[in-house]
This record gives sequence, structure tokens and C-alpha cells, in this order.
Amino acid sequence: MSEVTAFVEGWDFVQTLGEGAYGEVKLAVNQTTQEAVAVKILDLQKVGQNYDNIRKEICIHRMLTDKAIIQFYGSRKENNRQYIFLEYASGGELFDRIEPDVGMPETMAHKFFTQLIDGVDYLHCKGVTHRDLKPENLLLDELDNLKITDFGLATVFRHQGKERLLSRCCGTKPYVAPEVLTRKDYHAEPSDIWSCGIILVAMLSGELPWDQPTYDCQEFCDWLDKKINLTPWSKIDTFQLALLQKILHQTASKRHTIVNIRRDKWYNKTFHKSKGLTRNLSGSCHDSPDGKPVKRICSGNDLSPTSSFSRDEGSLGRISSSQPALTTHCSNQSAENASSIDDLVHGVSFSQPVHMDDMLVSSQLQCTPGSSQTPMQRLVKRMTRFFTNLSADQSFKAVTKVLDSMKYSWKKNPPRQITITTTDRRKNQLIFKVNLIEMDDKVMVDFRLSKGDGLEFKRHFLKIKAKCSDFISKTPVTWPT
Ligand code: ADE
Repeated sequence: MSEVTAFVEGWDFVQTLGEGAYGEVKLAVNQTTQEAVAVKILDLQKVGQNYDNIRKEICIHRMLTDKAIIQFYGSRKENNRQYIFLEYASGGELFDRIEPDVGMPETMAHKFFTQLIDGVDYLHCKGVTHRDLKPENLLLDELDNLKITDFGLATVFRHQGKERLLSRCCGTKPYVAPEVLTRKDYHAEPSDIWSCGIILVAMLSGELPWDQPTYDCQEFCDWLDKKINLTPWSKIDTFQLALLQKILHQTASKRHTIVNIRRDKWYNKTFHKSKGLTRNLSGSCHDSPDGKPVKRICSGNDLSPTSSFSRDEGSLGRISSSQPALTTHCSNQSAENASSIDDLVHGVSFSQPVHMDDMLVSSQLQCTPGSSQTPMQRLVKRMTRFFTNLSADQSFKAVTKVLDSMKYSWKKNPPRQITITTTDRRKNQLIFKVNLIEMDDKVMVDFRLSKGDGLEFKRHFLKIKAKCSDFISKTPVTWPT
């Protein structure tokens, strides 16, 4: 993308936040003011006939203004590329806080779940359904507040008080509600709520309960048969499980609504901040307030970005590759609510080269969170990377030797990228890429998922990382301040 970024004077494109089939999301930092913004860059040649989907995504996203939603700043089309300017979430993806097979501490899961429900409630009140809620589409700001992003599959289900049923089968199968897969009309709200339930399972257990909620999937049938002695349910406490049983109800009309969820006992549990999460010497986690050990045991892989700042900074994000057909046009309401930045962007001649300054002169952006941070601090936190003290070539050799010893099938993409193709525990295809990036005296070995289940990807990453321990840098990475 260097040809895209070269002409954007005054802005550094610090890093790629995510990649997808149609393009990528980059972090842009203003050289003078240090303001940060995420720029989604879509290659319109690759998008082809799906341009209507992008228009719909923009049309829906721009009408949303809530603390639980990534703020839309503006968009423009230039040189066969569509740029979408978004609030930058420096905490990375929720997905990066979930430890495979473990999840996260109850207090954290509770906080993220309540914020998720608030965000989904906001969307539903606006008549919008997201249709692809999953941890990869939930970002965290610098205070670890959850923000919903990626409205590529979103649609309007209620307009002027009148609800329409949906029929499009879309989303990500493990998170999708059963009725979405049955090819009959379905209500939007319960299907989003189902996805929130699956996200809660992932947060509490570090597992996805099934590949898809269909009768040919044994794990789903076991759930319907109430076999809660099986994993992931066996790892989840009684009150959380009681809530999950109401959310993951097969019949959409009997499923908990947001009103019901907000009355739930676990949902209303209060956690005392002062005690917080404590970790005992054996690595097991206790959650406040009672200090009793919970069923989940932390493996010692600390996913907290602040505590592992020296280890795993960065970010991961993907542009949803699956795009629905335009099923409804957006209401005029969306245009009314467009931000002043958006008005500004649309006021700038498209025949001019893109100067991000033109787009970002706005009080809204002057106070982008994180503008007091250095660019390095602003690199969002990620767990799927490590650093070596070797040279880039030595690191490449060392990593590929480990991959060979683990019998991975891989190919080199010059100069220093590796694509690994494998299958996960459920025999689904898993493809991920490793980039080796020189950073001062260290080399960053950065893993990114290209295709497949994110939690499975992390399991593979942790196994590979363990085998690389001989050459992983033990000294903290100190960023310039
Ligand atoms: N990845 C995708 N979109 C992002 C955003 N707005 N902030 C941080 N990371 C992202």
C-alpha cells in the first residue's frame, strides 16, 4: 500500500491493523499533533460488483454515534480505493484477550459482556442489526472499553417503527443463530443476542461450543440435550450457565431479550474494583468479590496488554470478507446524523489528491483518545507476536526450522513473510501468516490469521511460540518516548 500512503502529507501510516479480502485497515498518526485514526482502505477492483455493500456499510455506520460503537469519521473514494476513517481503538481486539481453552477472568468477561449488550441495545434501538458479532469485531479503547466495529453485514430491520423479517443467511457460522441457517425468515434482534451468548462462552471458556448450530453438529445436539457436564459448559459457573441457557435458547421467540438479560442475576453481579483480579503462585485465577477460585485456571499466558507491554504490543484486525447483497436501502435518518467530519470530507474535491489533513481538521479529531501517547505506545496490543535478538535472516531460518519440526506446511512470500496452511482440531482449514519485521536491534515475529477460527489460530501460535523459546528475546522492548 506504499503508493497509497506516500502522498498523505503530514501523516505516518504507522502499522497495518488488519487485512482482509478487499483491503486493509491502517493506523495513521498525525506527525504534528499525534492524533490517531484508523483508515479502512478497500480496493474497489477487488470489491467489483459489491460496491453497493460498501455504500451500505458507510450509510449505516455513519448514523451510529454511541460510546460502544467505533466512531465513523468520514469516507472518500479516490483512485479506485474507498477510504473509511474510523475511531482508532488502541486496546486491540477483544479476541486478543481470550486465552485459548481458558477464556479470561470473570470480572473482565462481565464488563465486556455488559458493554456489548449496551452496544447491541443501542444498535437495535436505531433499527440496525450487526449480523456478524464476534470477538474479532469488538475492539477495545485505551481504557479497555468495548467498541463494536465492522458494519459490512449490518442492515436496517426496523424503519419508522415497522420491523421487517430478514432472510439472508450471513455471518460467521460458530456465532450465528440456528434460525439464520434454516433458510426461513428470522427476527434480527434474537439472532444478534445469540451471537452475544457465543461471545460470552468464548470469554468464559476460551472455546467455541460448536462449528455451527445445526443437527449434524454433535456438540450442538449435546447442548440441546442439556449435557452440561461436557466442555465448554463444565468450565462455566452455575450463574453464568443459567444465563447462557436462556440466551442460547434454540427457539428465537423464547430466547432472552435484552430486557430479560438486564434482569439476570449474574448480569447484575457487582465486582469490587479494589480487590480486583488476583493471581496465586500456581497461576490459578481468583475473581473478586469472594476470592473463591473459579473453575477456570489461567495457564500463565498473561494476555493483559498492560502487564505484558514489553512483550506483545500491536494489533490485529480483519475486514470481513463476506459481504451481503444490498437488501434494503438506508434511511435518510443516516444522512441527518452524519458527523461534521463527514460533511467536511464530502465537501473536499475528490479530484484533489488525498490529504488527510483536509479530512481531519475537526474538533472531534483534535481530541482523539491516545493523542497524548507516543506512536509506539499507540501500537495496539496483540498477543500473537514475539521478538528475537537474531538478525532477520537468522530469525527466518529459526522460525521455519521450528515449523518443519512441527510438520507444518508453509511457503515463503518474499521478502520475509511465511504462509502456513493447516487444519484445526475440527478439521477446518486454518491459514495464517508470519511477518518478520526489523525494529531497531530486534526482529518482531508477527502472526496473523488469514482464514479460519481465531481461537484455533491462537492455540497454534502458543505451541509454535513455546518451541521458539530458545531464541525469543527475554529483554523487555523499550519504546522511544
Ligand atoms: N482494526 C480494525 N479497525 C480498527 C480500529 N478502528 N482501531 C483499531 N484496530 C482496528
